[in-house]
Parts: sequence; structure tokens; C-alpha cells
Amino acid sequence: MNLLEPKQEFEALLNYLKGHLNCDLTLYKRPSLERRFQHRMQELEISNYTDYLEYLTNHPQEGVHLLNTVLINFSGFFRDRDSWNYLASVIIPQIIAFKQPGEQIKVWSAGCASGQEVYTLAILFVEILGIEQYIERVQIFATDRDKDALLEAQRGSYNELAIADLDGRILSKYFEKKFDNLEQRYVIDSKLRRKIIFGRHDLTLNAPMSKIDLLVCRNVLIYLDCETIAAVLVRFHFALNHNAFLFLGSAESLTKSENIFRTISIKHRIFAKVGNLTLEQYLLIKPTARRKKKV
Ligand SMILES: C[S@@+](CC[C@H](N)C(=O)[O-])C[C@H]1O[C@@H](n2cnc3c(N)ncnc32)[C@H](O)[C@@H]1O
Repeated sequence: MNLLEPKQEFEALLNYLKGHLNCDLTLYKRPSLERRFQHRMQELEISNYTDYLEYLTNHPQEGVHLLNTVLINFSGFFRDRDSWNYLASVIIPQIIAFKQPGEQIKVWSAGCASGQEVYTLAILFVEILGIEQYIERVQIFATDRDKDALLEAQRGSYNELAIADLDGRILSKYFEKKFDNLEQRYVIDSKLRRKIIFGRHDLTLNAPMSKIDLLVCRNVLIYLDCETIAAVLVRFHFALNHNAFLFLGSAESLTKSENIFRTISIKHRIFAKVGNLTLEQYLLIKPTARRKKKV
């Protein structure tokens, strides 16, 4: 007999995932998480979270499937094209102008999923700087919490659907056509990939990078609750150089962080680092730092 309320059942399920699958979804917004769990449960014809938890404990493979469906990895090249155009025409030239000739430029794609975002960045820097300057000066970090997505990103090999919206010139300049298992694939130029360091990194748990000039974190914060977003934004502030920029997704905004970032373009969700962190904010930077609930 099930004596728990649906909300308690759901929390029990999240606690199980945290304890047994090393996947902490407790910081994520409940309504969208619940919708995605419900979707999976409907597929299995399971009507409540307790039965689903039992199914999960009896079917170890279900954990993998669940993580792939719950933490949606959807991405795309030049997703929200107008905003990428703005980045290329206004922001990247400013980043270059702030630098001395030859000085290094550090870029971070946080929550890079299957890599389209980080390769979009690489393509833009090559278009603006030329391939030689790109190789000499640009260093890109591409991180995600999802191991499989990162592997896909590292491979940099895409199917017809993924490249469908790419401009023909960009496609032929930066991708090589290859057949793999009778399927047409488009593989990103290895010269671009060479300057990208891929790594597993959880924005809610791990310490941030540092001395970043452009931090792109799009369609990731949308899954987190307000308090966690505020903590992640403090880490982003720490990660960025002076005169550096933060580029968020089209549905994302600065939650409780207006004092440490200045809006450059609200339409394109581009912000610049300003101000200093308070001591309380500084403490949020430490790895695994979690705010204790006041009692
Ligand atoms: C919808 S995709 C966005 C991909 C890409 N940024 C874009 O906009 O096209 C969200 C990605 O965020 C990653 N993600 C979710 N929570 C994360 C966290 N706490 N730390 C790092 N990555 C996270 C997911 O694994 C997924 O790959």
C-alpha cells in the first residue's frame, strides 16, 4: 500500500537517484522535472512515482535511460541565430579589442551538450581572427555534467538533421563529409577541435574555471531553481575576467545577480561582469558549497 503523497513520492525518487545513481536533481525545478518523469512513466504504463522507483531498482538499465531523457541534451548550431550574429559583430570584436596583440583569449561553453554550441563558437572565432590567430590565441573549454553528451561533443560528428540549418559555405569550410555505417556524417575540422578542451563539470557542484573572457551557458540554467541559479551566477562572476561577457539562453535571465552583472543586450541575453562579490557570495564559489537553509 502506498501511504505517501505524490510530492513525497517524487522527493523519495529524487533522493534515490541522488544516493544510488550519483545524480542530484534535487536542485532542479519540480514542474518541468515531474513532466519529464511522467512522460517516461506513461511509456512504461506506470501510474505513480513509488511504482516507478520500484521499477528503477529492479531494472538497472532504466537509470541510464532516465538520465538521457530527463537531462535533455538538445542542442543546435547557431541556435538563436540573431544572438550569435550579435555576438560575432559586437561582442567578440570587443573582446579582441580589450586584448593586447597576441594575448590569449579564453572561452567557456558550460553545458555544451553534444557540442554544437562549442563548435559554433570555434567557427565564429576562426571567421573573425583567421585560422592561424585562432590556433595561436584561442583556448576553449567545453564542459557538461553528462558523460555521453560530452563523448558525442568530442567526436564532433553530426548527421544530416543536425547540420540542416547550417549555411552551405560554413558547412563546406569547417566540416568533412564521411560515411559511417552507411550513414552520411559531417565531421568538424580537427584544427578547430584541437583548441577545445572537453571535461566533465557540474555547475552546481564543481569549482568554476578562471580568467574566462566569454562564458556561454545557454539553456542550462532554465532547469535550475532560483536559489541555485543565483549561486551558479556567483561562480560565473568569479570565472570571468574584467571586461568579460556572459551569454545566456533566450529564456534565461539574471536571477538575484543584477549587482554583479550589467546588461549589454537583454534581447540577446548578453551581460558583462561588474562589481565585486560580497563575502557571503564568495563562499558560494567553493566546490560543493551549498547554502544551509535558515532554521
Ligand atoms: C538543453 S542542453 C543545452 C545545450 C547547449 N548549451 C545549447 O544551448 O544548445 C542542456 C545541457 O545542460 C547540461 N546540464 C544540465 N545541468 C547541468 C549542470 N548542473 N552542470 C553542467 N551541465 C548541466 C545537460 O547535460 C545538457 O547537456
